[in-house]
Amino acid sequence: MISKIFFSVVAISLFLGLALDAATIDEEQAGKVDFSYKNGSNGPSNWGKLKPEFSACSSGKNQSPVNILKNDTVYNKNLTPLSKNYTAFANATLINWGFIIGLHYNGDIGGMEINGKKYAFKQLHWHSPSEHLIDGQRYDAEMHLVHEAEDRSVAVSAILYQYGDTTKDVDPFLAKLNHGLEKLSKEKCEKDQVSQIPVGMLSTKHITRSTRKYYRYVGSFTTPPCTENVIWTVLSKARSISKEQVAALKAPLTADFKDNARPEQELNGRQIELYDELKYKGGLLTKRKEPV
Ligand SMILES: *[C@@H]1O[C@H](CO)[C@@H](O)[C@H](O)[C@H]1NC(C)=O
Ligand SMILES: *[C@@H]1O[C@H](CO)[C@@H](O)[C@H](O)[C@H]1NC(C)=O
Ligand SMILES: *[C@@H]1O[C@H](CO)[C@@H](O)[C@H](O)[C@H]1NC(C)=O
Ligand SMILES: *[C@@H]1O[C@H](CO)[C@@H](O)[C@H](O)[C@H]1NC(C)=O
Repeated sequence: MISKIFFSVVAISLFLGLALDAATIDEEQAGKVDFSYKNGSNGPSNWGKLKPEFSACSSGKNQSPVNILKNDTVYNKNLTPLSKNYTAFANATLINWGFIIGLHYNGDIGGMEINGKKYAFKQLHWHSPSEHLIDGQRYDAEMHLVHEAEDRSVAVSAILYQYGDTTKDVDPFLAKLNHGLEKLSKEKCEKDQVSQIPVGMLSTKHITRSTRKYYRYVGSFTTPPCTENVIWTVLSKARSISKEQVAALKAPLTADFKDNARPEQELNGRQIELYDELKYKGGLLTKRKEPV
């Protein structure tokens, strides 16, 4: 069964994982937000002018995505291994938001903790090509896991994907969503509308795999309204994906949104921090004097 809801400012807020207050649905507004990824009057460099609520897209000084220069990152010994407590399986729904493909787990599936603060998992979605760059390199896709704390502050984890060397190098998580993505691409997603495909019980293990190295910085949403103070965790190790899988993620989107990566934003003096499990252990070892 496919349900359609209006794609509106409210839908965008929902997409961002913020609470949906039915009373705020303004059908007059439906479809009036019309940002795009192509250069032009509603392209990324003009997002901030499209609506007053989007002003951070142009005036913000802490925007995302950014280019992570490994040499310019600083190792922060206070960063800890990612602490997560997701449930193992949950019933999930694939969603075509018109500008992006996302996945929502029904109900509370747990979340992550940063600096003692708890962030509940809200939704995940994919961009292709990648939005974050590492040493100027753009990857083939990027998955964003969006989390929100009780005070509504947001933390997003990003996982980069690159095309594998062989046809066997597929992303096992997306492999489970093949059928749903195919169904989604057959749905006509009219402008201003959102389509959904239930995909049933889905493991969360692929989104919770631990990481030995990540980059941490404070940025923003990469889509309007480009809200700031988002804590970003970009995993350093890219995962493999096949060309067919990236094509399947693009298939349900209209031509203007098949490439949905926001251009690189200025760091404006922000420092990107590094968590490195090996360095951390190395740090302990260096306390013992090596025999000369
Ligand atoms: C679009 O704009 C960006 C940044 O202003 C520029 O780097 C890029 O070359 C432009 N692309 C096209 C197709 O004009
Ligand atoms: C990083 O620093 C090293 C040593 O200074 C240099 O050789 C290397 O080219 C730098 N890498 C980048 C990507 O700038
Ligand atoms: C999953 O959710 C769908 C509706 O989105 C429902 O029809 C289905 O019964 C649910 N499955 C399970 C196993 O709870
Ligand atoms: C994860 O931790 C939060 C905060 O302690 C808690 O509310 C939530 O129920 C936990 N979820 C799971 C799946 O354990």
